[in-house]
Amino acid sequence: MAEMTIRPARSLQGAVVLPGDKSISHRALMLSAISDGGSTISGLSAARDVASTRGCIEALGVGIEGDRDRIRISGVGLHGLRPPAAPLDAGNSGTTLRLMAGLLAAQPFETVIDGDSSLRRRPMRRIIEPLEAMGARIEGVNLRAPLTIHGGPLHAVDYASPVASAQVKSCILLAGLYARGVTRVTEPHSSRDHTERMLAEFGVRVQSRTGMAGLGRVNRLEAADIDVPGDLSAAAFFIAAACMLPGSSIEMDNVGVNATRTGFIETLSSMGACLSQDRATVRSNEPRARLTALSSSLRAVQISGSMIPRIIDEIPVLAVAASQADGATVIRDAAELRVKESDRIATVCANLKKMGAKIRETRDGMVIRGPVRLQGAEIDCHGDHRIAMAFAVAALAASSETRLVGTECVDISFPGFFQILESLRRD
Ligand code: S3P
Repeated sequence: MAEMTIRPARSLQGAVVLPGDKSISHRALMLSAISDGGSTISGLSAARDVASTRGCIEALGVGIEGDRDRIRISGVGLHGLRPPAAPLDAGNSGTTLRLMAGLLAAQPFETVIDGDSSLRRRPMRRIIEPLEAMGARIEGVNLRAPLTIHGGPLHAVDYASPVASAQVKSCILLAGLYARGVTRVTEPHSSRDHTERMLAEFGVRVQSRTGMAGLGRVNRLEAADIDVPGDLSAAAFFIAAACMLPGSSIEMDNVGVNATRTGFIETLSSMGACLSQDRATVRSNEPRARLTALSSSLRAVQISGSMIPRIIDEIPVLAVAASQADGATVIRDAAELRVKESDRIATVCANLKKMGAKIRETRDGMVIRGPVRLQGAEIDCHGDHRIAMAFAVAALAASSETRLVGTECVDISFPGFFQILESLRRD
């Protein structure tokens, strides 16, 4: 297992070029694959999760050339995917497995899709149920991966998802492209809407309003050229670190600021963070802006309800920032964190406690009392990229060195993270 020792930092300063947004990268690959003709993607994420999606669609017979800055996909059309020679491997990626399942449910062949030990533990009933209601047949091991998907003709559903999940919503919408009738998904709170926005770029008419998305069967997707914005979920680590360390100033351009993703910016701003945005533009139907974060004096905050899906991936690093905020930060309604790449309520609480924070685990969240001077510790990353990066940030603000164990998982979303963090360090 890889290890990293992180020394405390006085401040962070500089400009960061972020990786492409991971959520948008998955969707760009999948929609290009089933469109008619050549599409290009610029700014695709180099994350291992995105490579898993690329591997799956290549195994289904789609040609892809190039990497990084500009890749070209030879779309095979809605009905051009071919049966793979072996089970598909989604690796660690829930988005790959759940979104691909939506496409595979509509194919006239059977596919097995599997993942690593973490993905095999994650709940799949949430996609099996709606896809079976549309006419597919799916076998799993206790409703978990590996899944055997017997695809075939589908009919539309009007599905009320019990969880606010963009992976569930997108899975159903992708299946809905092939289904007879109008497919609709409602959710308790709005989740990220990248699928809806990108479908429009590929010429599909999508109905979308708060908590609901729908579409009818289509004959084709037009090819498109997609420009992927920088990943706000990756930016969050640098933003949090800049706010926590005195004398810091970080700037990042072309960051995705889609309103279904900006819960972290809003929450940190309401905690008193000095954050600003300029150079706002929209490309590929996704808003972007330049973000600047300065060191700040933070106060506690309460988050729950509709805020949770808008900040879900940033909660580990928010908890780290909350350990430096004045008062009791309360996070509720976030039980979904327990079924991410690790049980993020348990892993955040155990690690922050080890560093001396005052934190209490609850059923669906946590309570953090600050400010507390963190101490260096040995931290287990639990195979979870966002835990590794959140605790690299905590380590910068600690009074002594921290050893992070199992840092190879960072490549799941952000290869190069540690090099960028070090380049910003001012001791
Ligand atoms: C994602 C949706 C979220 C998020 C994940 C990426 C997506 O998961 O946590 O990192 O790309 O659709 P859920 O949809 O399960 O909440």
